Amino acid sequence: MCGIIGYIGPREAANVGIGCLRRLEYRGYDSCGGAVIHDGRMEIRKGAGKIDEINRELKLDSMKGNIGIFHTRWATHGNVSRENAHPHCDDNEKFSIVHNGIIENYSYLKEQLAKKGHAFSSETDTEVIVHLIADYYNGNLKDAVLRALNDLEGSYAICVISSYEPDVIIAAKNESQLVIGLGNGENFIASDIPAILSETKDFIIMENREVAVVSRDYAEFCNLEGTVIQKKIQRTELDAASAEKGLYEHFMLKEIHEQPRAVEDAISNRISEGRVILEGEFPLSANDIKRIIVVACGTSWHAGLVGEFMLEEIARIPTEVEYASEFRYRNPVIEDGTLVIAISQSGETADTLAALREARKKGAKILGIVNSIGSSIAREADYVLYTHAGPEIGVASTKAFTSQLAVLYLLTVYIGDKKGLLPQQQVQNRIRDIRKLPLQMQKVLGKSEAIRKIAEKYSGKNNALYLGRGINYPIALEGALKLKEVSYIHAEGYPAAEMKHGPIALIDEHMPVFFIATKDERTYSKIMGNIEEVKARNGEVIAIASEDDEDIGKKAHIVINIPRSSYILTPLLAVIPLQLLAYHTATLRGCDVDKPRNLAKAVVVE
Ligand code: M6R
Repeated sequence: MCGIIGYIGPREAANVGIGCLRRLEYRGYDSCGGAVIHDGRMEIRKGAGKIDEINRELKLDSMKGNIGIFHTRWATHGNVSRENAHPHCDDNEKFSIVHNGIIENYSYLKEQLAKKGHAFSSETDTEVIVHLIADYYNGNLKDAVLRALNDLEGSYAICVISSYEPDVIIAAKNESQLVIGLGNGENFIASDIPAILSETKDFIIMENREVAVVSRDYAEFCNLEGTVIQKKIQRTELDAASAEKGLYEHFMLKEIHEQPRAVEDAISNRISEGRVILEGEFPLSANDIKRIIVVACGTSWHAGLVGEFMLEEIARIPTEVEYASEFRYRNPVIEDGTLVIAISQSGETADTLAALREARKKGAKILGIVNSIGSSIAREADYVLYTHAGPEIGVASTKAFTSQLAVLYLLTVYIGDKKGLLPQQQVQNRIRDIRKLPLQMQKVLGKSEAIRKIAEKYSGKNNALYLGRGINYPIALEGALKLKEVSYIHAEGYPAAEMKHGPIALIDEHMPVFFIATKDERTYSKIMGNIEEVKARNGEVIAIASEDDEDIGKKAHIVINIPRSSYILTPLLAVIPLQLLAYHTATLRGCDVDKPRNLAKAVVVE
């Protein structure tokens, strides 16, 4: 999705701004550009393509001027072209804007402005905003922006500059994320914190319908009515290196390898004296939770499915998992005692946020399980359990997923303990099990090279099937999602028993079938049956199996061993080989793993 950077200070804005803009590339984009003001004149350079290409051609980062706004565009209104790339400006090039979001009433506004003589040069919804501002300008940029914003319906994060007032950037936010970074004699505006972590650790997070006037020395805030608002400065503990690739070739690989640390960080401050301690973050009484509904999208939805299994198994609370995009448009029944858990890495996914609001309207209490600190879901939920995985830059979610699972596990044990369902010894055993995980994960990561060799064998395939049962059925879904999103190989995930009800028709000697076939009392023998069924149809079987399973080698063509853990924690280990497999397959196929085509890191529009 679109990314925004603004800079005002003593340095060359384009040089700083384009550097920061590169850190927003992971969000997904198709064009980019920037506008600066120098000697009272606005200069805009932009084009369709990646930052490096456009920079080679147009020298974006060499523009002169100490104030500038910069943008990566992910097309919504209008195709991918130079004309539609941001920044957009008014007829006289006195004002320019970058925008993230969707203006729903733009057609009407465009018509009105055209009648007044405004000429439009793009097909975007964004361009109407800058024409409106030019139309309203009467010697005060902030006032003109406020008037324009009051005409808009829809979502926006914007930065506006004008050569009439070259010492301020006006920023505003409604639904789309925007933060102000405070420097020493310079200030920054960005779509997210990691983009400007190298410049500052002091941030002000903007809320909906707020406007900021940002100069070199100050940032002042007001609401859409112009009433002044006092904002809190927050200091982040994240360091700039957490948003850099370091020695790894790709963010995805780095983040896969960060999982032991991410799980450690998710659990370490929440365990004390043999108990899970969540009272401070989640003060709701466990006995008051009669039913749980999880809302999420994509990988976070898969985490919800694993969570459902955990919560029903251990905490004995009826749990349903809903696609947030479906939940928000139904008329869901929310009874007294319903807790809605919104799971999201970014905390900005539009559908999950809308589902949360729908649930709140109906009287549910909301718990957010969120990675991105200070994000919209984290702020709007009644309670939040941060996953503490650190910035996840690769579009494919990896460490965010396992840390979501770790938090769901802690939540489950916590509720089970509070409800008196788990004797103290069992609580301690459960805690011991998860404490072992980081080391066990490390062991699985040691198989990366072996998994690359397996990927070599299958990287030329066009299809793949992923099968699992019980708590590992969502891992089959997640394995398939990882493969398709980064390697563009068509992949399906299914509960293994469902295979007979249709997908079995796909199986022949060209079909690799990945089984999660770890040892457990409930489903192991059934999975072995499913493996036989695939082999009988000449399918190639690759099994993720427990390291003490001596028989599986006789059944599967290829075996990837993972350490034995308690059944309920196997998803956190079983998913790692599938993440590595997707990664290696994609790189072997020459795909851009960190920025797969058409995808955005945070889906902030419907
Ligand atoms: O930020 P969120 O967790 O809310 O994002 C949800 C999905 O968009 C996300 O998990 C998506 O499916 C990823 N590309 C998966 O790797």
